[in-house]
Amino acid sequence: TDFPIILGIESSCDDTAAAVIQNHRILSNVIANQKVHQSYGGVVPELASRAHQQNIVPVVNEALKQAGISPNQIAGIAFTRGPGLMGSLLVGSSFAKSLSMSLNVPLIEVNHMQGHILAHFIEDANESSPEFPFLCLTVSGGHTQIVKISNYFEMELLGETIDDAAGEAFDKAGKILGLDYPSGPIIDKLAKEGNPEKFKFSKPKVDELNFSFSGLKTAILYFIQKETQKNSNFIQENLYDLCASIQKTIIDILMDKLEKAVEKTGIKQVAIAGGVSANSEIRNRLLEMETKANWKVYIPKFEYTTDNAAMIAIAGQLKFEKNEFTDVSAQSVSKYKI
Ligand code: KG4
Ligand code: ZN
Repeated sequence: TDFPIILGIESSCDDTAAAVIQNHRILSNVIANQKVHQSYGGVVPELASRAHQQNIVPVVNEALKQAGISPNQIAGIAFTRGPGLMGSLLVGSSFAKSLSMSLNVPLIEVNHMQGHILAHFIEDANESSPEFPFLCLTVSGGHTQIVKISNYFEMELLGETIDDAAGEAFDKAGKILGLDYPSGPIIDKLAKEGNPEKFKFSKPKVDELNFSFSGLKTAILYFIQKETQKNSNFIQENLYDLCASIQKTIIDILMDKLEKAVEKTGIKQVAIAGGVSANSEIRNRLLEMETKANWKVYIPKFEYTTDNAAMIAIAGQLKFEKNEFTDVSAQSVSKYKI
């Protein structure tokens, strides 16, 4: 076939990723996770940039190899312009710019958050793609947003976190409990054995469709400190119930605002994106709404929900089809409105 082949490059946080797409079909999707941050309990920006620098060439080469193409078959190069860590973004964008100049092919800039959402339009992401308009809850270690999508690049931010992201809430709670980073998947697993009603944490009062998670972190910290003073084995003895209760609180907060967004807009097509969409509790609660409230829910394949380059490649392809290109003067931006 002669559909144009697009290379996508993602380097906004701590994953170096490259993917090749043709006609909405992913030919390869390669990602190098950075293990250096694990022992710090969070991403260290300077270490992230250095690791991107080491990973970018092998990751792109591997993506081309797995797709079975040579560089001269690439018709366009898409890269993440923002939002993200500046030092991380610069590695991907500089690489993309150089390659586009040497191959003499157009350059396409992608908003990382739009990429998360547009991943739903990758051919094998869902059983079917969402229809416009739909809502998307984007929840990861760096973001928590509710977006209304009227068309591929017609997006409206309905609400977002005013402090920590939902994934960050999982990770910080896990740190207090002495769990490894990232703690989200660990809490998810331990919560299955616990009682979600055992411990109650108060929910934040935040305007409209916005979120807040920093108060929850403080509440958990004070509660644990108080209880361990009375019983030094408190965490060990209650770990499952603590995980289940914390997880329920976070998911309650998310679902509450998502339900409000559906009410407010009348849109019942609801998608989810970002690493936290791997959480089994939020998946159950979303699917429950299909029968309970007649929602149509879209949960994409796991590899397209966490940070990846396939989402940058699909967004790049959709822009390529509209001839929406940028040039080497495009500046990376740590903040980028959707
Ligand atoms: O999208 P992602 O891979 O990277 C960004 O942060 O952009 O998301 C990672 C976040 C981490 O905070 C991690 O703890 C959380 O997603 N996470 C989960 C689960 N799997 C990953 N949180 C809750 N339950 C999970 N199963
Ligand atoms: Zn992300």
